[in-house]
Amino acid sequence: MKDLTPNQTSLDPIEIASTDEIRALQLKRMKWSLHHAYDNVRMFRDRFDAAGVHPDDLKSLADLSKFPFTQKNDLRDNYPFGLFAVPREQIVRLHASSGTTGKPTVVGYTRNDIDMWADMVARSMRASGTRPGDIAHIAYGYGLFTGGLGAHYGAERLGCSVVPVSGGMTERQVTLIEDFRPTTIMVTPSYMLNILEQYRKAGIDPRNSSLQVGIFGAEPWTNAMRAEVEEAFDMHAVDIYGLSEILGPGVANECVETKDGLHIWEDHFYPEIIDPVTGDVLPDGEMGELVLTTLTKEGLPMVRYRTRDLTRLLPGTARSMRRMEKITGRSDDMIILRGVNVFPTQIEEQVLALPDLAPHFQIQLVREGHMDCMDVHVEASEAAASEDARTHAAEALRKKIKDVVGISTRVHVGVPGSVERSQGKARRVIDNRPKG
Ligand code: DLL
Repeated sequence: MKDLTPNQTSLDPIEIASTDEIRALQLKRMKWSLHHAYDNVRMFRDRFDAAGVHPDDLKSLADLSKFPFTQKNDLRDNYPFGLFAVPREQIVRLHASSGTTGKPTVVGYTRNDIDMWADMVARSMRASGTRPGDIAHIAYGYGLFTGGLGAHYGAERLGCSVVPVSGGMTERQVTLIEDFRPTTIMVTPSYMLNILEQYRKAGIDPRNSSLQVGIFGAEPWTNAMRAEVEEAFDMHAVDIYGLSEILGPGVANECVETKDGLHIWEDHFYPEIIDPVTGDVLPDGEMGELVLTTLTKEGLPMVRYRTRDLTRLLPGTARSMRRMEKITGRSDDMIILRGVNVFPTQIEEQVLALPDLAPHFQIQLVREGHMDCMDVHVEASEAAASEDARTHAAEALRKKIKDVVGISTRVHVGVPGSVERSQGKARRVIDNRPKG
């Protein structure tokens, strides 16, 4: 793999500023943001008043813990535009996420917000090893989902030639990569596996592709998956994080030279880790739920937004800003199986540890009598597709999950192609247990 470490002089000065400088900027911006939310959004004003806090009470960054949390339901309750802090005419873009039930959550951006977003994605891409002049193939979905357009504006801002493919039509994705020869691809990791498979079907060696870096996010993925994709394509795989309520892609990104977790772009987003049950702020280094406060957003400021994403904060390395560890999963995706907490990423690690299995999997939960059971559906690699080999692989995976994760599962190893393929965010868990 090529060394893609960016030139230090190409970085924004704040990326390598001292911690003191960063904290001072954050405090100044946080004061502005709390005032902006309080002065212009009814819900924030009512919430702060009810909690007996005022933006003027924020004297230090630690004072943020006195302010109330914001949650996804607050966006639903104020559907569609109730949390916007500027007149609707100043909103130049809307995005929405469908969610699993009920009304979508709607987010809005001013022109300055779109500008900042483009800057943050450009910064993320530069950290990933992309350079001005590179060709960037964008296979995140375009539309109400923030992935496609968010990546697009950032890639243009960095100075790339952008190929706005969007998701789907996997055969054409391969043709375009082969013909246009991009160095960067931006796509969900699960859809990248789909593209990989298409390379193999077409008889093209993915290691000979022009791709040098993949910027993967929008869903949890493991270091085992990184190793798999890096080996298959002979390219770097780095992690990009974000969520619509805060921005879209570009809240945090890994640096290609270290790949040791995602630097949070702290000049625009202030992170906290809380105990998801008590809501108490936890010290850096401890695992918990990520809470984010926007520092510069105009259209939709967010104060202490509970992301439900589980991670921990670590000190800066390649950049001064703090890192968050790769996300283990969302608290909503945590499976409690007979008293043991399990995340799909833990299953992913075990699947990828067995060379006879392809890297696709799906978990199904069922209730039998009073017992919850987990069926893990995986498939054999082409080289190990015989019935004997599959029986053997199923037993090996069952044992691994039992030994390492600590739960009993039923493993089904199908023939190649039998597991549902992802076009965007993979559906890892199907819960067929009775509700309630
Ligand atoms: O998924 C934004 C995005 C697009 C990020 C493209 C990166 C690349 P939402 O659809 O609002 O926004 O979903 C946000 O996706 O709270 C996490 O649970 C999950 N997520 C996003 N990035 C990562 C990641 C976009 N790198 C939700 N690792 C978030 C793990 C991620 N989970």
